[in-house]
Amino acid sequence: MKKQEDRNHQKGSSAWKSRKVAIVGAGAVGATFAYAMAQNGAADEICLIDLNNELCKGQVLDLSHGLPFYPTINIYAGSEKDYADADVIVITAGAAQKKGETRLDLLKKNSAIIEGIVDQITAQDSKATIVVVTNPVDILTKIALERSGWDRSRVIGSGTVLDSSRFKYLLSEFFNVYVGSIHAYILGEHGDSEFAAWSMANISGVQLDEYSKQLGIDNWPEKKKEIELEVRDSAYHIIDYKGATNFGVGLALVQIVGAILKNQRRVLTVSYHLEGEYGISDICLATPCLISQNGVASIIGTELTKEEQEKLVNSANILKREYSELKR
Ligand code: 2OP
Repeated sequence: MKKQEDRNHQKGSSAWKSRKVAIVGAGAVGATFAYAMAQNGAADEICLIDLNNELCKGQVLDLSHGLPFYPTINIYAGSEKDYADADVIVITAGAAQKKGETRLDLLKKNSAIIEGIVDQITAQDSKATIVVVTNPVDILTKIALERSGWDRSRVIGSGTVLDSSRFKYLLSEFFNVYVGSIHAYILGEHGDSEFAAWSMANISGVQLDEYSKQLGIDNWPEKKKEIELEVRDSAYHIIDYKGATNFGVGLALVQIVGAILKNQRRVLTVSYHLEGEYGISDICLATPCLISQNGVASIIGTELTKEEQEKLVNSANILKREYSELKR
């Protein structure tokens, strides 16, 4: 649990800069992400920050007991000062989604929390990329972006990276094809208005309508609806079963943060502030974005069908309405 400055000093190297991830919120999502990130190896330091000192200490101790088994990593409990030299700050803090509660119900509670955290981050003159995870993630990403005054590339949300992964998992089960060979995205709001971009979904370049025809699947149109609904309601089902979701989102975050730390230029459906792309402005939602060392390097200008474009605009309108209600 040594701070990285001490380790740098011991190494006698001033040129070496460790890759540091600060996680705000040491609850189930923050701790699960820390656990997965530690095993991934892309970060050198993970710093957990939480108002609940006991919880934070407990998680750090527990995580640190795996130190001999991770790639080299330093895990410690930090404070707002740690924002100063973090490369990525992942915000998971906030009230959790309760049974029967939509993500949008959480908005009022969590926006005040996010604004407070962003104020602390900007006060430290941080050069980090902020990744918002707290729900409702799209609106809170916009709130974080506005509060920070930073470039939009550096304030992003976890968006539908998890939903896209749920989608791939279900398609993989249905078609009995390895999940890594399936390319498919869920776009829009991370929430009830999200939708499957079927026009982009393919297995090794073969569109799924075509592939299902090849396999002689007659009820494919109904199956499509079922799969899309199952993705959309995944979080509700898990919350019904176990109260909260943590593993899937933890791994989705590793993909986003890893892409930033490794300058991977990886395409992920993060929540990003649109400024005219897809004919949409002034709201954050998920579209395929190219992730590099400074956050979003660019939007991949995907060609959507008319119906998909309408669904994206519908998501944007729903989010804008919620946002303006909050600001009233
Ligand atoms: C999820 O989709 C609740 O946003 C969380 O798992």
